[in-house]
Amino acid sequence: MAKICKSSWCLLILAIVLQLVHTCICLSEPDLLIQFKDSLKNTGALSNWDAKVPSCKGDQPNWSGVLCDKGNVWGLKLENMGLKGDINEDALSQLKSLRTLSFMNNDFEGPLPDMKKLGALKSFYLSNNKFSGEIPADAFVGMLSIKKIHLSNNQLSGPIPSSLGTLPKLMELTLDGNQFSGQIPDFTQERLINVNFSHNHLGGQIPASLSNLKAASFSDNSDLCGAPLEPCPGPPERKLSVVTIVLVAIAVVVALGAIVAVIIILSRRKKAPQLGDAPAAAAAPQGHNKPPSEDLDRLEKGMSPDRGSEGKKSDQNIKLSFLRDDVGKFDMSDLLKASAEVLGSGMFGSTYKAALNTGPVMVVKRYRQMNNVGKEEFHEHMRRLGRLSHPNVLPLVAFYYRKEEKLIVSTYVENVSLAVQLHGNKSRGLSSPDWRTRLKIVKGVSKGLLYLYNSLPSLIAPHGHLKSSNVILNENNEPLLTDYGLLPVVNLEQARDQMIAYKSPEFKQNGRITKKTDVWSLGVLILELLTGKFPSNFLQQGKGSDTDLPTWVHSVVKDEWTVEVFDKDMQGTKHCEGEMMKLLKIALILCEPEIDNRWDIKEAVDRIEEIKERDDVDDFHSSYTSETDMRSSRGLSEDFINVPMNG
Ligand SMILES: *[C@@H]1O[C@H](CO)[C@@H](O)[C@H](O)[C@H]1NC(C)=O
Ligand SMILES: *[C@@H]1O[C@H](CO)[C@@H](O)[C@H](O)[C@H]1NC(C)=O
Repeated sequence: MAKICKSSWCLLILAIVLQLVHTCICLSEPDLLIQFKDSLKNTGALSNWDAKVPSCKGDQPNWSGVLCDKGNVWGLKLENMGLKGDINEDALSQLKSLRTLSFMNNDFEGPLPDMKKLGALKSFYLSNNKFSGEIPADAFVGMLSIKKIHLSNNQLSGPIPSSLGTLPKLMELTLDGNQFSGQIPDFTQERLINVNFSHNHLGGQIPASLSNLKAASFSDNSDLCGAPLEPCPGPPERKLSVVTIVLVAIAVVVALGAIVAVIIILSRRKKAPQLGDAPAAAAAPQGHNKPPSEDLDRLEKGMSPDRGSEGKKSDQNIKLSFLRDDVGKFDMSDLLKASAEVLGSGMFGSTYKAALNTGPVMVVKRYRQMNNVGKEEFHEHMRRLGRLSHPNVLPLVAFYYRKEEKLIVSTYVENVSLAVQLHGNKSRGLSSPDWRTRLKIVKGVSKGLLYLYNSLPSLIAPHGHLKSSNVILNENNEPLLTDYGLLPVVNLEQARDQMIAYKSPEFKQNGRITKKTDVWSLGVLILELLTGKFPSNFLQQGKGSDTDLPTWVHSVVKDEWTVEVFDKDMQGTKHCEGEMMKLLKIALILCEPEIDNRWDIKEAVDRIEEIKERDDVDDFHSSYTSETDMRSSRGLSEDFINVPMNG
């Protein structure tokens, strides 16, 4: 080479050309996967990996264990396959769309693969293998997207690599059941939630940044100490000198005196509440400067909020961030001055209706379960949601960010939620929605959901919390989705306890939500609409709320094979039973616990659109026949699904 090319310039150019040539010899995804497979052993479970067949067809995998997105491989889920051998990171690193890897429950041994070569990964799961040896301190440097690292139950040893402590997006880290030793390095992440250091040989003081984790995250180690475990044995506490004690006592007395004085002054200055005893009335003075939480707390308790006093004025103003221009600007004090009414209290906080003096009526939702999100990230996400515009999606108007709580303001719709329409109309002396209305609601909800899928492609569950109380009906009974798109900003722990996406069968089975999770929620919603039965486990809040929803789904249709399954209060069903049955069948497919058997959102919406208000006269007899067939059928939903769709 030196002979052809004498000058160093020429060498440089040659190097660049070689580099270009190298990057252009891009292997196809199937070729790369085969290359990856070639270094594995015991690959019987991958026998259908065949380079002649594309690995993905759209979102559908054609090879086992491959996860596909728009024709590209975004994940490998090779679990429980008895795999061994070497993991070829170089082949994997050329899969441009690869974001998640799971090799859990296999027989891999030896050193951990070089994960930092896979810098774009968001999660990898290597638990329950026999990986061993020390991990270099810099093993994870540069993995800027990684959120989940699961290494439980291997034979890894030596110190915990310090590069783990600096990964900006890390949320989950399980290192339990290994032989890690030494001190735990510092972790700077704010969003760490699921962390486990149990069953290792770790010692020394737990870094302060991890002191808010549960003690169960550190159990069974050699000699860890410090919060949340026992304090580390330190130098004996020094006795306080008499002088210190006297000084502290004086300070306490002075402070108490000051507090009493302030209370007396304030109570004298307080004016009579504007709206008297109306429990839900809210008002606040101009130049109001406290966090809104205090007023809202009082509002929730049915008290008139503290009017404050002119004396407390400060220039610190509470600013709402607006997402739309067409509503007219107002600020927090306008909201607090507005006559307000508590609309309800959901899982995340309360909802208020606030009628502004200037005319518009707003809905303010208060969230206290979003304090793991940084300000920038929250603003960015809200702006993303604020750009959404669809007739079946309730638009956001503004929001307010404070570390401890968030307010989200949207326009007010003069009607009630679908949940109230379905389950509360009787007690309000109103009739229940008829079939025509229910079908219209189903179609609207599914179109709104499809829009969210298309507009928020980066969210796995773009709605995440779809249920009948999060569907508002306007005066024409057109449904509007609310509480959508919040999965990325809700604290993971609360999300898991409360959000509908986390009640899905796939989350229960393998702890993950998927692109079809919201489809499952849609199926449940349709079942609720058709049967009039409330999925009662949604009622329970917090822990234990994950009692089996899929079981409920099946219990709905189990013993009632006939039209009796439908809500008795639903009017206008004559000559519609055939179409109703079709919709019921669709709902059951959407509720399929097996993800592969469940339709994706596009197909779901297409099939729902095909449902008509009334049976065709010609169709009617055949649908009646299939219905009597079903009456005699003993099977569960499988039989049900096998009935031809046009039957
Ligand atoms: C994969 O593709 C081949 C050929 O295109 C087809 O015959 C086969 O049924 C597909 N397999 C799966 C699991 O989709
Ligand atoms: C950590 O893992 C161990 C099992 O290895 C488990 O018993 C413990 O509950 C886990 N702790 C947390 C906080 O998840």
